[in-house]
Amino acid sequence: MGDDRGSLVALEGNKTIPFDIKRVYYLFGTAKDITRGLHAHLALKQVMLCVTGSCKILLDDGVVRESVFLDSPTKGLLVESLVWREMSEFSSDCVLLVIASEHYDEADYIRNYEVFKKTVEIDTLAARTEKHKWNE
Ligand code: TYD
Repeated sequence: MGDDRGSLVALEGNKTIPFDIKRVYYLFGTAKDITRGLHAHLALKQVMLCVTGSCKILLDDGVVRESVFLDSPTKGLLVESLVWREMSEFSSDCVLLVIASEHYDEADYIRNYEVFKKTVEIDTLAARTEKHKWNE
């Protein structure tokens, strides 16, 4: 949204943001050469966007690893549950806004990559078993 006065982005729960918004936080002043994140969530989903500046987001669903460069306040990235994320290459002016579907809960974090991989395998197996049950 915008006019000759400038631009405006509105984010609404269950509309532009595809979940109920429970928490909003932002990262800024991140030192150069720092990598943050290095975790996945069991249930939480989030949308990330750089309000100013830029950074790189690496996403890994246990099978595919992909990097996205967030470099515009009009670019939002949806990160589903059970996705490993690493944020790096923060510009000095970067303000990374995170909109989350859950309150802060350390029990929802998977901070060990091997545990993450095992959890994805179990989740995939459970989904397959469930599908098999319904197809019988
Ligand atoms: P951390 O999850 O390590 O940040 P990142 O994944 O972005 O590298 O969080 C850093 C610290 O802040 C950690 O002690 C937990 C705390 N924290 C909260 O208290 N509330 C929050 O909403 C978040 C995201 C972190």
